[in-house]
Amino acid sequence: MLELPIIQDTKSDSTIRNVNDLSHQPKLYVETYGCQMNVNDTEIVQGVMNDCGYAMTDKPEQADVILLNTCAIRDNAEKKIHERLNHLKYYKKRNKDLVVGILGCMAERLRETLLEKELVDLVVGPDEYRTVPELVSKAYSGERGIAVKLSRVETYDDILPFRTEGISAWVSIMRGCDKFCTYCVVPFTRGRERSRAFASIVDEAKSLFDQGFKEITLLGQNVNSYRDEQSGHNFAELLDACAKAVPDMRIRYTTSHPQDMSDQLIEAMAMHDNICKYIHLPVQSGSNRILSLMNRTHPVEHYYERIDMIKKLMPHCALSTDIITGFPTETEDDHEATMELMRRVRYDGAYMFKYSPRERTKAWKMGDDIPDEVKVRRLNEIINQQNAIAREINQTLIGSIEKILVEGPSKKNPMEWQGRTDSNKVTIFPQNEQSPYVIGDIISVKIEKASSATLFGSLI
Ligand code: SAH
Ligand code: SF4
Ligand code: F3S
Repeated sequence: MLELPIIQDTKSDSTIRNVNDLSHQPKLYVETYGCQMNVNDTEIVQGVMNDCGYAMTDKPEQADVILLNTCAIRDNAEKKIHERLNHLKYYKKRNKDLVVGILGCMAERLRETLLEKELVDLVVGPDEYRTVPELVSKAYSGERGIAVKLSRVETYDDILPFRTEGISAWVSIMRGCDKFCTYCVVPFTRGRERSRAFASIVDEAKSLFDQGFKEITLLGQNVNSYRDEQSGHNFAELLDACAKAVPDMRIRYTTSHPQDMSDQLIEAMAMHDNICKYIHLPVQSGSNRILSLMNRTHPVEHYYERIDMIKKLMPHCALSTDIITGFPTETEDDHEATMELMRRVRYDGAYMFKYSPRERTKAWKMGDDIPDEVKVRRLNEIINQQNAIAREINQTLIGSIEKILVEGPSKKNPMEWQGRTDSNKVTIFPQNEQSPYVIGDIISVKIEKASSATLFGSLI
């Protein structure tokens, strides 16, 4: 436990606010953007701040400290944050003592330029979250702060993420990325690849199970290159150890790089019932010329060979991918190669993006020669085709019985609940007072209807 700080508040007539005094317990509100790793990082920051006496709130108007945990992956991710900052001026007008901070990948990328915004008191990059309490304390006395050093060793292994009750937990097993895909800012915003200790991850899985969690997702930008420094254990071995340590817990992981998707990993998945049969395997493009310009380090042939291996060992394994349209120099033929690859693999789902040039990356220097309307048209073509394929796949599930982990009321209708199949498909089913299940149960649902993104069923 960190020591509880005394926070000197010089902005409002020099009163001393002692966070030991629970009647004045300061409140932290964090908003999270970007990927699941950011979601887990927010829990780490909340863990650090909670140790220093902060309570969490989900109401920004009640907060003493507002932090935005940001993403820099595409230009529109950053635009969203600038808009949100403009909006936060309103909170600062109402509460002059409010501390506002920017965390995450955009903090790392834009650094002190973010402090030029009058509103922002602190800027903290992904490897410096231990400094947040100190920088917040300084901000109370009007001192603005920045901490954006990247580390080769920081994994926050000893920090207990602040998790509110739930059934699914995120567990970061590694940080950073060394792949340097030419379009991507992550190697710059998150720094070098480093893995958490093997034993501490397995222990965390056990402890989460004991706390009542039903599902964990092991996280990293490229989990396949996980390597425990001490024992030399790889990701397949970690997955195997977790599956054995918590046999009644569902285990997922994301994200994989096709280059490092080993037979050993696919075999480990196939061997354990509690490892969910779902793989997110980003391909980005179906054209070898573009893959090479992207520095994806493998041709489409290697990708097909990995998919064949997955389907051979796990015929019902669901697959999803990421696609970028309009990468520099992408021709209609390259685009058609991507369409063709998606028809051949038949993904259950895909995250599809328009190329967004990022400063400092290699692709930045390639120019951005594909006109926006062409990017958009190609994007729409792959989205439409993908939706049709996903609908077809889901409709083949009609009549089947799926094991669903119950998550709670559906977003659209409180009379219906939702959960997920082992293959990660959102499934909706009816709920009433007599329903014999609670959140966290695994129930059998007969699928009766299916759209491209959702299954609908009834209890059996
Ligand atoms: N580490 C993961 C991806 C993390 S970023 C992996 O390699 O699989 C998530 C996705 O965002 C990427 O897979 C890519 O499709 C997309 N992306 C990254 N940089 C982008 C950019 N500059 N423009 C558009 N999409 C991008
Ligand atoms: Fe970015 Fe490539 Fe690393 Fe994924 S593997 S985070 S796309 S550099
Ligand atoms: Fe975004 Fe950083 Fe994740 S750039 S996608 S929040 S690693």
